Amino acid sequence: MPNDRALADDFDLKRLPASFYDDPFPTYRALREHAPVKRMADGSVFLSRYADVVAVYKDTATFSSDKHEEFGPKYGRSPLLEHHTTSLVFNDPPLHTRVRRLIAGALTPRHIAAMERRLIERVDSLLDVMEARGRDAEVDLIAGFASAIPVEIIGNLLAVPNEERAPLRDWSLAILGALEPTLTAEQLELGNRAVREFLVYLEGLVARRRTEPGDPEVDVLTRLIEGEGGEKLASAELLHNCIFLLNAGHETTTNLIGNGLACLLDWPDEKARLLAEPGLVRIAVEEFLRFESSNQLGNRITTGPAEIGGVVLQPRTQATLGIGSANRDPEQFPEPERLDVGRTPNRHVAFGSGIHQCVGMGLARLEGKVAIGRFLARFPNYRLAAPAVRARRARFRGHVRLMAVLDPPTSTTTTPETTP
Ligand code: HEM
Repeated sequence: MPNDRALADDFDLKRLPASFYDDPFPTYRALREHAPVKRMADGSVFLSRYADVVAVYKDTATFSSDKHEEFGPKYGRSPLLEHHTTSLVFNDPPLHTRVRRLIAGALTPRHIAAMERRLIERVDSLLDVMEARGRDAEVDLIAGFASAIPVEIIGNLLAVPNEERAPLRDWSLAILGALEPTLTAEQLELGNRAVREFLVYLEGLVARRRTEPGDPEVDVLTRLIEGEGGEKLASAELLHNCIFLLNAGHETTTNLIGNGLACLLDWPDEKARLLAEPGLVRIAVEEFLRFESSNQLGNRITTGPAEIGGVVLQPRTQATLGIGSANRDPEQFPEPERLDVGRTPNRHVAFGSGIHQCVGMGLARLEGKVAIGRFLARFPNYRLAAPAVRARRARFRGHVRLMAVLDPPTSTTTTPETTP
């Protein structure tokens, strides 16, 4: 095992060892300790401390989200470049502000609360399907459960017809997969093809919605088409932000649910605690977000001379924000390497912070609470049937497969707080 100093010295996001994908946390710990503002071979820096990550999120004048400079060389002139440089998350105001307002208006706490009943029905129907296969059957908790929930929720948000939702997940995985620090030619091709196909699909959907608008109160696509105050989004802005939205709420939320269920098996005492006290699920979801953050990395670029963690950065320095590392920083979280389903306070940065803070976080939290709460209540004795298979991704942390035996109990279980 390399020592912490060597781990920090050798770290480079573009040359990650295979072991990092399974368990990046020893490396993060070493970085926080020995090189909190770690300079990499390409001149970019990696920030691993909570205080530095939060400081960057707050200072939007010095740390821009615009990705033209970073993605130009990465993608060349391609659909992926157009997509990622047009979506709100990778832009600064004013485009960012215009698009964000349109989306946020349909995701107020009132709107989210109104989605709960349908969400519970969807989760229960997935649980029914799994249960019908028998107590000893092996099920994949990702394909059969975690990934099936967000696709439904986000599809409803843009009113994508049910029968047209099947390709959404693969498009999303391919496009977000292309955000990894290094890419193979195949990943690039897959990502570009996904953007092209997604655009063709959305052009048709938008044309139909223009002739038959939905309710702008709840239909985000209609809101984005109609714009605000007489100002409409350009066609490319509209389409790429729809793609982003459909992607943003997908893999991240799938991974929140998958990571939560997997973590509990590693921490049986915490699982027992949650089973004994189902009302804790809301707080437990925050802990899963902190402990195994679905989105491990963020990115910014300096607009001028800057200083972070005592290190001076030149203008146009790319900075990677180590969200997963910040969320394990002992300066912010007592016993950060311990899962504590009752942890309070828990000011994690799994949803980022500042003007780009996740606009869907209320929805993601609800999905996590309902999915994990109801799963546990139905299958308290679930266990893995095979070792969990992690995706080989540094940015999005989750599983490709999580084979489990549900082994439902013979005794009655406590009713979770999500009962309608
Ligand atoms: C567990 C689930 C989720 C996680 C961990 C997550 C994480 C994040 C993070 C870290 C950011 C900030 C990016 C940055 O500052 O550069 C972000 C932004 C965003 N997220 Fe999420 N997200 C989740 C679910 C969702 C859902 C369900 C939706 C949609 C309904 C969504 C929509 C967005 C949008 C539109 C942005 C861009 C906001 C902006 O730039 O102002 N996310 N998300």
